[in-house]
Amino acid sequence: MPMTDIDLAIIGGTGVYALAELSDTRSELPETRYGMPSGPVRIGTIGARRVAFLARHGEGHGVPPHRINYRANLAALQQVGASRVLALNTVGGITARCGPRALVCPDQLIDYTWGRISTLCEEAGTPVLHVDFGDPYTAALRRELLAAASAAQVAIVDGGCYGATQGPRLETRAEIARMRRDGCDIVGMTGMPEAGLARELGLGYACLGIVANWAAGAGPDPDEVITMDEVLGNVAVATADVGRLLRQWLAG
Ligand code: HPA
Repeated sequence: MPMTDIDLAIIGGTGVYALAELSDTRSELPETRYGMPSGPVRIGTIGARRVAFLARHGEGHGVPPHRINYRANLAALQQVGASRVLALNTVGGITARCGPRALVCPDQLIDYTWGRISTLCEEAGTPVLHVDFGDPYTAALRRELLAAASAAQVAIVDGGCYGATQGPRLETRAEIARMRRDGCDIVGMTGMPEAGLARELGLGYACLGIVANWAAGAGPDPDEVITMDEVLGNVAVATADVGRLLRQWLAG
């Protein structure tokens, strides 16, 4: 049986490979029935709460989005005692309210990924699950996150649709134009199958999108080329707000 002493697990995305707020940290590398997670799970405290942190791509960003063992990452967090997960996802912004450095807490998603292991029901003999996924993010967890943002005076976009693309390349302008027509506000490469697997595992799950850049053709400069320097620079700035939000959230 897992220990149940973790208040919140946090998965860090591109540019978020550690949490400066985490103290008294120990590390675990849990082997799961799905294999090994992307790296060690760092377990410590933020304020009054026990927190587990995992870098989705590995701490050296060695694992590309389509090769991440999403099942092992989530199972590892569950094994160390987490029952709810805050996913930090570095994303591109599509709609006007989701410009670079914005924080977005989406309430919907569209999955454009392919060829990834996207369910626990892969192996013969595993029960077939048809989990409800109408609301892909856990409402109570979203509410807590939004309340903490408000208390910490951190601006956050409440709601929006996350479009999950395959990567690792960025999208074409036509692909982003289509995603806009589909109703997507932000685009990233790791939101799925993570959210679906979390639901299958019975984990609470919410996403905090950190907008690193305008998605292809979505910004004011029609000739803009997206660079990793831009992405990492904007994530570094926005992560300070994420830290304030987390300290506020986990203080009590
Ligand atoms: N597209 C997909 N994923 C991303 C982007 C983007 O523009 N920026 C950061 N992650």
